[in-house]
Amino acid sequence: HSLLAAAAEATGCAAPQPAWLAQLPRSYSRYGDLALFPEGTLDHPSFAELAASGRLWPTVCGLLKVRRLAVVRRVARDGVRSSRSRLLYTEPGCDPASATVATCVEHGVSLSWDIADCMFSRGNAAERHRLVPLVAAAAADGSESCIVDLFAGIGYFTLPLLARTGIAQVIAIDWNPAALRWLRRNLQNNRIGESRCRVLQGDNRLVAPAGLADRVLLGLVPSSRLSWPAACRCLRPAGGWLHVHENCDSPREATGCNKDHPNADGSDKDSEDASRTDKDLSVRGSSDGAFGGLAITSNCFYKDRAATAAAHAAFLNSPHAPAAELPPPDAADCDEDPLAEAAETPPVCSRSRPHPAWLSMAASMARELRRHMPPGWRVRVARIQFVKWYAPRVAHLVFDVECRPAG
Ligand SMILES: C[S@@+](CC[C@H](N)C(=O)[O-])C[C@H]1O[C@@H](n2cnc3c(N)ncnc32)[C@H](O)[C@@H]1O
Repeated sequence: HSLLAAAAEATGCAAPQPAWLAQLPRSYSRYGDLALFPEGTLDHPSFAELAASGRLWPTVCGLLKVRRLAVVRRVARDGVRSSRSRLLYTEPGCDPASATVATCVEHGVSLSWDIADCMFSRGNAAERHRLVPLVAAAAADGSESCIVDLFAGIGYFTLPLLARTGIAQVIAIDWNPAALRWLRRNLQNNRIGESRCRVLQGDNRLVAPAGLADRVLLGLVPSSRLSWPAACRCLRPAGGWLHVHENCDSPREATGCNKDHPNADGSDKDSEDASRTDKDLSVRGSSDGAFGGLAITSNCFYKDRAATAAAHAAFLNSPHAPAAELPPPDAADCDEDPLAEAAETPPVCSRSRPHPAWLSMAASMARELRRHMPPGWRVRVARIQFVKWYAPRVAHLVFDVECRPAG
């Protein structure tokens, strides 16, 4: 506030008006010489009037020590997540060709994108790099060689994995050509040979390869659910991991775990014990992040192993066939109860007090994913990773799901 109020003063305008005071940004993100203001700020027509003096934006640039100013608009609900960010000002001398280009460097990995046609979420920074040590170790010991990124965008997850691990190949898929142009440029900027990254443009449900992946990344919120069948088909016959992003409604009354949300009202519900029973699961938070001796698994077996293998082969050879088209497994051997394997290793949550809704989502996810897996496979949610509060009481989570043939 004080920054822009000072800027308004510097332009010699009258006292700030309530209408536009309400639209002053409380924060901004800096990417090199670009300051990005949050959505819903600086929209009031008075700002255009103030700017007409020619002094407002240069003053703001001077105060923030940047050369370009832009406002973020909510990512368009057009499937390709196109951004509608609007450039407010560029200082004279800025290259007009790159006026809307932003660059972010994290752990030595540089990601560039055009704020006018691609999205980027600074809040996902930790998640972009979380898998790096796991994948680096698995690539080094030869147990993993291929990752499929179903929603690759500009390379949010693809780039850190290629730049910081020895993984042999990432197959990066997106249906937005603008995002893929930036993905290719980011590969070049980080000196990653295209031989390590196969870039596929198209709907991942149609173009994702079958039977190749050790890991599949499903980085789409609010939900990646429509691509779960494709993700299951991507896995190698030996199985692997799905990293499933989902937004999860996490109502306050259920637990106190969302106390650090900026919009939390600090009521005493925050101190509520997380040990509660919801209709599916008994939950107790513990200091190491594991909870309640509960494994969220779902199994389904054919009695006859050969039939299982044949069904799996057929499944992999018909990449677009829904699992429902396979012969049904023997009902007596089919177990859809997520509590059935309670004695096994429990899933771990990155937070000591996982919200009951997160556990319910994990359980239903395991059940649904199992339905998309070949018969005889076991699906286990091993970890629930909290990424950020996407909106008040809506948690962006990543579920690490291990899928393997049983036995
Ligand atoms: C929201 S962005 C990814 C954000 C990223 N996970 C992050 O952490 O910032 C999602 C990308 O998925 C792409 N996308 C959505 N549905 C798709 C589909 N069915 N097939 C291919 N790409 C898709 C969009 O074009 C977009 O580039």
